[in-house]
Amino acid sequence: MAINPQTTPHPSLLSPSAPVPLALWPVAQTSAQYQRAGRYHPDSARHPGKMLPALAARIVCEYSAPGGLVCDPMSGIGTTIVEAGLLGRRAIGVELEPAWVDLARANLDRLLEADRRRLTEVRQGDARRLPEILGENAGRVDLIVTSPPYACDAGVIDRKAWVAGGRLCTTETLNYSADRANLGHARGPAYEAAMAGVYAACHAALRPGGLLVTVTKNMRRAGRCVDLAALTVGLARSAGFSYLQHVVALHAAIRDSRLVARPSFWQLTQTRKARARGEPAHLSVHEDVLVFQARQLVGR
Ligand SMILES: C[S@@+](CC[C@H](N)C(=O)[O-])C[C@H]1O[C@@H](n2cnc3c(N)ncnc32)[C@H](O)[C@@H]1O
Repeated sequence: MAINPQTTPHPSLLSPSAPVPLALWPVAQTSAQYQRAGRYHPDSARHPGKMLPALAARIVCEYSAPGGLVCDPMSGIGTTIVEAGLLGRRAIGVELEPAWVDLARANLDRLLEADRRRLTEVRQGDARRLPEILGENAGRVDLIVTSPPYACDAGVIDRKAWVAGGRLCTTETLNYSADRANLGHARGPAYEAAMAGVYAACHAALRPGGLLVTVTKNMRRAGRCVDLAALTVGLARSAGFSYLQHVVALHAAIRDSRLVARPSFWQLTQTRKARARGEPAHLSVHEDVLVFQARQLVGR
């Protein structure tokens, strides 16, 4: 289902007699490349972990109203901010890496008319200092949408090089930046501690009752599932959020009665290898969209 950015709010919010929405969103009826082609700056392809534009648009439609304030504290090339701006929301992105900040601003300049561009911006900074970075908007954000690093290697896949015996990903695209301070490099307890700080900062940035929506994907490592969705639920609850809803964002196209997967070359290869080793692995064709609400914390 294509999302028309000009159609706000989502029809299901308008009428009580509209069909009850399903917690499964087919956001990959067209490929990621097609969703960005002719819209986003071509250099956006250099970022290794972008959100699908249709997914960002769907989250913004479902969980905020036109004119509301949307924020993405780890905004990458600015997908959330662009799609929120197109949908008539005010939006602020925060991103650690100056190169991605520049690209996000270039995307906003390309895609938004002047009146909507004025309502959006991207600031350089650390998500763990979100309230300070937001200044007077701290405590007033209606919706935070973010896709954090996934506690595993991310990189732009160079299939040709890999087939020829070289590296799977070029070093300069690994984990968003060579800077070890980038949370793309954090693993295990270091990742948990850092993301606990990010979610605490999100709580402080939201208005009371405001919503946090995270997008994560469960990965496989050494034959086991790394359950990032469950970890994220635990971290967000500890930071003062109530867990409202789990939505499955389907990364496969629905064609008649079939699902057509859109896996990366890496995922496909890893799943085939696991099955050859006798592990009953399946190709993962969804991301987890987790919806939380900020609780009033006692003593604040
Ligand atoms: C999964 S990507 C998000 C991509 C984004 N949704 C998009 O569509 O472009 C995670 C982003 O978090 C950024 N990041 C990592 N550590 C950060 C931090 N401490 N503060 C802010 N951003 C950070 C990375 O540079 C990366 O761009």
